[in-house]
Amino acid sequence: MSEPNSAPIATIATLAAHEGETVTLRGWLYNIRSSGKLLFPTFRDGTGTIQGIVPKAAVSEEVFDRIKSLTQESSVIVTGRVRADSRAPSGFELDVADVHIVHLVPTDTPYPITPKEHGTDFLMEHRHLWVRTPRQAAILRIRATIMRAAQEYFDTNGFIRTDPPILTPAACEGTSTLFELDYFGDPAFLTQSGQLYIESTALALGKVYSFGPTFRAEKSKTRRHLTEFWMIEPEVAFMDLEGDMNLAEAFLTHIVTTVLAHHRADLKVIGRDIAKLEAVIAPADTPNDAASTPPSKDASSRPEPQAEWRDPRISPAATPASPLLSSRSAAEGSASSSATAPFVPRFPRLSYDEAHAMLDQAYKEGKLEAPHIDGDDFGSPDETYISSQFDKPVMIHRYPAAIKAFYMQPDPADPTKALCVDVLAPEGYGEIIGGSQRVDSYELLRARILEHNLPLAAFEWYLDLRRYGSVPHSGFGMGIERAVAWICGLDHVRETIPFARTLNRIYP
Ligand code: 4AD
Ligand code: MG
Repeated sequence: MSEPNSAPIATIATLAAHEGETVTLRGWLYNIRSSGKLLFPTFRDGTGTIQGIVPKAAVSEEVFDRIKSLTQESSVIVTGRVRADSRAPSGFELDVADVHIVHLVPTDTPYPITPKEHGTDFLMEHRHLWVRTPRQAAILRIRATIMRAAQEYFDTNGFIRTDPPILTPAACEGTSTLFELDYFGDPAFLTQSGQLYIESTALALGKVYSFGPTFRAEKSKTRRHLTEFWMIEPEVAFMDLEGDMNLAEAFLTHIVTTVLAHHRADLKVIGRDIAKLEAVIAPADTPNDAASTPPSKDASSRPEPQAEWRDPRISPAATPASPLLSSRSAAEGSASSSATAPFVPRFPRLSYDEAHAMLDQAYKEGKLEAPHIDGDDFGSPDETYISSQFDKPVMIHRYPAAIKAFYMQPDPADPTKALCVDVLAPEGYGEIIGGSQRVDSYELLRARILEHNLPLAAFEWYLDLRRYGSVPHSGFGMGIERAVAWICGLDHVRETIPFARTLNRIYP
């Protein structure tokens, strides 16, 4: 497109580099106010918003009238001088010299989303336009960074990305939430998780991850459930539950650190309490069941967790001590940041039984309305209560095997419990990560498949992974939308993805 003048093209996010200069911005009119001889048009360009100032005396009458005629969301090419203004949210204002109109929104069909309040249904019905609102744009920018940071963590720590299929012949996470489709006359399903497939690639490549859309026919209307969501899943050979929890902690720490490094302005637009996110990556101040970290160490200088598992049949003297198993004693001394130093957990860890006891106590003290029944999954109020006790994500491990997936390894210390972990986000955001150590015995896995009434034939390939060189292995899945809701402090996952798919909505 040819520009109406020769001023350099800039974006609102990079105006600091152009202070005092005349620049060209390309975007849309977000809003306009006028007070007699002054116009205050606010422009947005996808990277941010900026307020312009147009005194009648500063421009020709034609330019003044053209700017005055602008309707909301008309597309424009604006020329003006960048002026620092400490009161402006972006730190800058624009002394507008000229505006070229690319497309004027006609006054008889005005932009439907006005700065006044709209109901959620109306906004969701207009989601294709709602994404233009500064708050929604900020959320989508943060979502993109969360996805990038998540991949970056694995890419820089020796994981190979392997993409599982989306069309699958069998269930991974229970048969009640499968989307069924017709695959040339045979039933097939949209994937609920890439896990079973990346267990295969983990045994081929060691450390792998997958990242893609997953589907669940969730019949419930909650603020946490989508029918289509994005999941990132690592899977590691020769790693136990302990290693899985360390990995989840290091991974989440990297994501929050990256968002804080790049999105303070966006978090402010959304109204997020940044101190709550800073607390997540700060050193632990109270020792949890693992150990506290020396307070001087920041997250960026911590050693990465190593994928560790020790075969109990090998005597401890025969192998070098596992850093993970020795983390408790190492924490008592001074931890160094060398590559071989142990990873010292900071996020609190509670067994299911400990979490149940905490809820029981809270109920007796009148802090919870309903008691938690031992053996049941945690309800939303239970999770909210548990997470309110900590300022970091809390890991709950060893749930009753009966309420968890068929592929989870039983705890040798108590086979009624599964070697699994759910990570609950702070502030009542609920489960953001679910993971486990996987059953590695052929006989047990086969029995589990039958117990769960799953079709054995569809799982023969999965059983092969236990026939040929089976090893203990573990992984987890994080739903991107749950992570975005928590990090951005949103009430509902529908704002965390460009076009949410829920029980009652598939338009636009
Ligand atoms: O806990 P889930 O069901 O675990 C699995 O799918 C495992 N196969 C993952 C693995 O071990 N590789 O789901 C994992 C995460 C949840 O913690 C949550 O963040 C997200 O996926 N999730 C959903 N997000 C939005 N809407 C839904 N309906 C979701 N169901 C799960
Ligand atoms: Mg789960």
